[in-house]
Amino acid sequence: MILGISGGIAAYKSVEILRRLQRTGADVVPVVTEAGRKFVAPMALESLTGRRVSSSLWNDTDPIPHTSLGQRADLILVAPATADLIARYRAGLASDLLAATLLASRAPVLLCPAMHTEMWEHPATQENIDVLQGRGVHVLEPAEGSLAGGDMGIGRMREPAEIVEKAQQILLSDSPLTDLADAARRMEGVRVLVTAGGTRESIDPVRFIGNRSSGKMGHAIAAEAARRGAAVVLVTASDARTPAGIEVIRVQTAAEMEKEVLSRFADSDVVFMAAAVADFRPRVEAGSKIKKSDGPPLLELEPTPDILARLGEEKASQFVVGFAAETDDLVENAKAKLERKKIDLIVANDVSAADSGFEVDTNRAVLLWRAGEVEDLPLALKSEIAAAIVERVAGALED
Ligand code: CTP
Repeated sequence: MILGISGGIAAYKSVEILRRLQRTGADVVPVVTEAGRKFVAPMALESLTGRRVSSSLWNDTDPIPHTSLGQRADLILVAPATADLIARYRAGLASDLLAATLLASRAPVLLCPAMHTEMWEHPATQENIDVLQGRGVHVLEPAEGSLAGGDMGIGRMREPAEIVEKAQQILLSDSPLTDLADAARRMEGVRVLVTAGGTRESIDPVRFIGNRSSGKMGHAIAAEAARRGAAVVLVTASDARTPAGIEVIRVQTAAEMEKEVLSRFADSDVVFMAAAVADFRPRVEAGSKIKKSDGPPLLELEPTPDILARLGEEKASQFVVGFAAETDDLVENAKAKLERKKIDLIVANDVSAADSGFEVDTNRAVLLWRAGEVEDLPLALKSEIAAAIVERVAGALED
């Protein structure tokens, strides 16, 4: 594994990251940029790894370290990843050993950005991150907290324990990827509509009824379909970052989602209803904020439209995929939904398990096809489960 360290104050945490990685049994090769050397002493890394720490393309005994390092790596973890390093990686520059190693590798990459809030939020950095994520690069987004110089805000690198856990997840789940989904199966010319996130049903101007869906699965499906060449429209109720190269429509409520989905249904070949649509909404939305002094309000709820069931009724040649988040009797409940909503495939997942529910990056799923076939997808990153689902659907379209 390569531990890339670029020049930010968070580099002081790199030694702890290195130690934690070593404790998991990883063989870590540190590659430090010139700026990184100003924040972490190469001697510390050298004594922990027993290796010379390289920075430059020119002063190493290995004549081609920039290619040999990247080729041998099972993962390239960059922590901290500065705005400059991210921009160079996005542009494909090979101006120092770390950038060249990133360019000359097919290994999975995990970037752990650390920078000031203004730099992180700058459209240039955000666009670079979007593009890199679209290329399959993993990004552990910075957290909020105190930054260099006493400022507070988003931009603080994640803690070493979290970084190492994420790196392990990637290593663990990267191997089944090739078995889970054939990356060569393309979707050029296929029009894909994806919904994602949990809808928010307003109680009053400041409160809503929501749910714990993060939107990660739906966004990962949209990214995967786009990567395979499909024309993708994503109707999302999630604030999560949206993948590059697709049309994004933001909605809040079930009613808004229904309107956007129905108006596009006729022009779609495949629909993935990954959104967690609220089943109930307040019958009336208060026009102004309900005051605490008015006492706890009694909310009267009414059902929302079942978008998926409507698609099942209206579908002509479209391939419709539903999702079932269950806490009990996973397969039986999902099967009943598949039939009740008259769809082609349902992706069932057990949201009561800690590693396959809301907010986490991993998932395991069961695919139930209308013809009765059942396939278990093992624990993997949501992006990999998404790849498998999209690949299976692309295969079904070809048949
Ligand atoms: N769905 C939808 N519209 C709704 C509710 C759900 O389109 N109003 C879709 C979801 O996007 C998902 C599937 O239906 O693809 C399953 O949602 P779920 O809420 O689990 O199904 P329900 O029929 O509401 O079943 P239950 O609440 O009884 O589990």
